[in-house]
Parts: sequence; structure tokens; C-alpha cells
Amino acid sequence: MAEPVVTVRNLHAAFEDRTVLSGISFTAYRDQITVIMGASGSGKTTILKHLIGLYPVQQGEVEVLGCPLHSADQERLSDFYRRIGVLFQNGALLNSITVGENVSIPLEQNTSLPRPIIDLLVDYKLKQVHLDHARHLMPYQLSGGMHRRAGLARALALDPPLLFCDEPSSGLDPVTLAGLDQLFLALKKQLNMSMVIVSHVLESVRRIADRVVFVHEGQILFEGALDEAERSSLEPLQRFFHPPLQSS
Ligand SMILES: Nc1ncnc2c1ncn2[C@@H]1O[C@H](COP(=O)(O)OP(=O)(O)OP(=O)(O)O)[C@@H](O)[C@H]1O
Ligand SMILES: [Mg+2]
Repeated sequence: MAEPVVTVRNLHAAFEDRTVLSGISFTAYRDQITVIMGASGSGKTTILKHLIGLYPVQQGEVEVLGCPLHSADQERLSDFYRRIGVLFQNGALLNSITVGENVSIPLEQNTSLPRPIIDLLVDYKLKQVHLDHARHLMPYQLSGGMHRRAGLARALALDPPLLFCDEPSSGLDPVTLAGLDQLFLALKKQLNMSMVIVSHVLESVRRIADRVVFVHEGQILFEGALDEAERSSLEPLQRFFHPPLQSS
């Protein structure tokens, strides 16, 4: 039996009386890439923010890597934060320091390793994302794809067993996008990382997804294998996987 890394049960979320998540439940498993997909505004980022402990659980249960986020105390949450990696869409690097310094931040804040070891680890992380040459560059000197990979190197700094990414592929050209997807697949295979990735880029989803969780208007419409999702007769999935050609 595959081991769950994320278990969500009956999660509700409302902001100022507006319901955004209406009692959703789903599971993501170890050694798999689970892709959360759905239309804009359906609630994908809101789900992800609950999974990384950024939004408190208002109602329901969210268990990630064995940590019950709905009931964990601060000590347990601090331990949890050290065991996950997070990559947001813009990479969210600090602009005033180099790429290498950005990657070293989690190591400085969460370990007591001496400087020479941190430097070695930073080199290693940058190598993992094919950015060995970019250590001394400033974030503004990076292309979009390099920026995304630098954010990934920082997210990987503490060797998290579980990585969360929100729309890592948006805004990238097809070749850069394929390179980033190869990187995700390599991390999964070589480092046994599990991932939960929000994406609406179909070509990318087809390359990386082991499992799909499809969100529609704050509900989970489908959860399962990619090929099943592609064959689903549910209208929102049909529209997503087989979009009608636009007439000009
Ligand atoms: N902190 C918040 N306060 C108020 N409303 C919020 C908050 N967080 C999310 N929402 C609302 O929840 C809804 C879903 O937003 P969410 O960002 O989860 O969508 P999404 O599926 O990620 O969309 P996109 O594909 O465009 O990124 C939106 O209407 C948004 O305004
Ligand atoms: Mg979003």
C-alpha cells in the first residue's frame, strides 16, 4: 500500500462569509507527483496554502508528513516547516543578495553547520538544478527559467522529503518548461522526493503527473490516475483536457 504524505479530510475554508473550499477530501502519496489542477479561481492556491500551514485550518483535518496541521502546537509546526520545501510561482528570491546567498538562507536559519559546509551544500544544490555557474549572480540577472530553478534550489536546501509548488511552469517557454519538468522527474527518482504541484499547463501535467486532483468551484471533482482523468466524462475535466478550438 502506498503511504500517504498528505491527507485532507472535509476541509472547509471561507473568507468573509464567502465559501472557497466546501469540505474537500483527498490524499497524496509518497514517491509520487500529485498535480492539483482546475480553472482559475477554483481554489488550488488556497488548498496549497493550507497544506504548507500558511492558512490555519478553519474546519476539517489536514495531515502532512504525519503532522496534524489542524491541531499541532508551535513546536510541532516548526519541525514540520523544516521538513517541507515550497516553491511559489515567482521563485520569491530576495533581490538584494546573490543566488548563492538566497540558497544558503534556510541552511543558516535552520542548522548550525559551519560556513565552509554551508558553501559546499549551496554548490551542491545549485548543481542539482543546473545552476552551478549562477552562484554569484543577482536575481535580476537571471532568466525566468533560471529564477524558477534558483527558487527550487532554495526550496531543496534542507533536503525536504516533500515539495510543494504553485504554478512552477507558468510563463516559461516550451523548451524551458520541459527542462523544469525533467528536473522534477529527476528529483523524484534520484532523491525519492514526493511532490504536490499546482499546475494548469496541460503538456506539463501530462509529463509529470502520477496522480491528479481536480478542483472545481471549491470541490474535488476527481482524484486518481492521469489517464482516468483524461477519459473522464465529467464536463469540467473534458473542457480542461480537450479544450474546444476557439473560432476566430
Ligand atoms: N486570504 C484570502 N482572503 C480572501 N479571499 C481569498 C483568500 N485566499 C483566497 N481567496 C479567494 O479564494 C478564491 C480561490 O482563490 P485561489 O487563489 O485559491 O484560486 P486558484 O485556483 O489558485 O486560481 P489561479 O489559477 O488563478 O491561481 C478566490 O476567489 C480568492 O479571491
Ligand atoms: Mg493560484
